Amino acid sequence: MSLILSDFDIFFHHHYNSLHFPNTTSTSAKMARQWVLTSQEGFETSLEYQQDVKIPSPHELGSHDVLVRMHAASLNYRDLVIAGPMGINGPITPPVIPGCDGAGIVEGVGSSVHDFHLGDRVLTHLSAKFVESRGDDALASIADAAACLGQGSDGTLRSHGVFSDAGLVHAPKSLDWLPAATLTCTWTTAWNALFGLKGREAGPDSWVLVQGTGGVSIAALQLAVAVGATVIATTSSEEKVARLKTLGATHVINYLANPKSWGEEARGLTPGGRGVDFVIDVGGNETLPNSLAAVRVDGVVLVVGQVGESSVDAVPMFAALLHTCIVRGILAASRNQFRELVRFIDEHEIVPAVDDVVFELAEAKSAYRRLKEKKHFAKVLIKID
Ligand SMILES: NC(=O)c1ccc[n+]([C@@H]2O[C@H](COP(=O)([O-])OP(=O)(O)OC[C@H]3O[C@@H](n4cnc5c(N)ncnc54)[C@H](OP(=O)(O)O)[C@@H]3O)[C@@H](O)[C@H]2O)c1
Repeated sequence: MSLILSDFDIFFHHHYNSLHFPNTTSTSAKMARQWVLTSQEGFETSLEYQQDVKIPSPHELGSHDVLVRMHAASLNYRDLVIAGPMGINGPITPPVIPGCDGAGIVEGVGSSVHDFHLGDRVLTHLSAKFVESRGDDALASIADAAACLGQGSDGTLRSHGVFSDAGLVHAPKSLDWLPAATLTCTWTTAWNALFGLKGREAGPDSWVLVQGTGGVSIAALQLAVAVGATVIATTSSEEKVARLKTLGATHVINYLANPKSWGEEARGLTPGGRGVDFVIDVGGNETLPNSLAAVRVDGVVLVVGQVGESSVDAVPMFAALLHTCIVRGILAASRNQFRELVRFIDEHEIVPAVDDVVFELAEAKSAYRRLKEKKHFAKVLIKID
């Protein structure tokens, strides 16, 4: 596993940034490797590996294109869903390169690209489309999902990619490739969840409840701990309890041991049983009753995802009145929020927690399997040499 910039990257970075060499580099001898979704019959059937893909030469780049040599990617629950028949808010038009989380180095820029230069370390934003049309503060709607990376536009599971300059941000200086490649989806969502509602940002007096040990929940845990909040975490796995505590969770509840009332249990841990300030709900209708039981009056339930059972009864909107709380649905974050997150990570020297196993690009199907089987902790990583 390579956690530091290679000699080549360091050479490349300094060479081009300091000497202002022409805005191209020779990639002609190499061929790119990539995964494509050829259908939506599940990743085992629909993912296909291609190893002889032509790398665009710099003169082929559009004026706002950026050619990125990818160094790492990570998977999200959404990647499993997009590979399957349900998709997210509609079908894909294959072939599509999957994945939205990725980190790499700029190897070519179009004539109108001003924010990125050869050798810059960059991360992919979830979608350039809504940034191009609505700007850097724009938040995604569900309609924007169709254009997101790995779904409506080609994603990150490849060695080289051309991305619009509106769909990139600079990587944190403090992070190596693998942890940097975890930020695009789950970390931006966690950032928006805790700090996106102005005047209601999480702080040292906040109590935060996170559910399970997936990407969103662990990012929220780490961000909450960084501002001094008290975190209650849940998991189904006794093996993961110690890691949650090491990351700073004050309390850990096994949600399988007490499936009907772990929300009440969480509330009981707060001062005077007043309830939790922020509940990051990732389970959907299965977990929302417990989330509502845990939240304090005027607290915020973030409706983020649906890793739980989808066939259970839907929780009525009226529950927000019965629990006198704010229910806030969010989709990742704006590009400016992503930049805020990057600055915060550098300032607080946060290193995103990642899974113990790192996969090579060619092993992406095994990486999907690990995610599907919920064997991972936080983020499933893919190293791209
Ligand atoms: N709104 C957005 O912008 C946004 C962004 C990112 C993700 N999401 C959504 O958020 C959800 C989480 O995504 P992710 O990438 O973090 O997923 P993930 O990494 O696949 O999370 C998996 C973990 O969730 C926990 N879990 C599974 N079923 C659960 C249940 N019934 N109750 C509580 N925890 C449960 C398990 O933790 P343990 O093994 O510890 O039990 C499991 O390991 C997904 O539905 C995803 O689509 C939404």
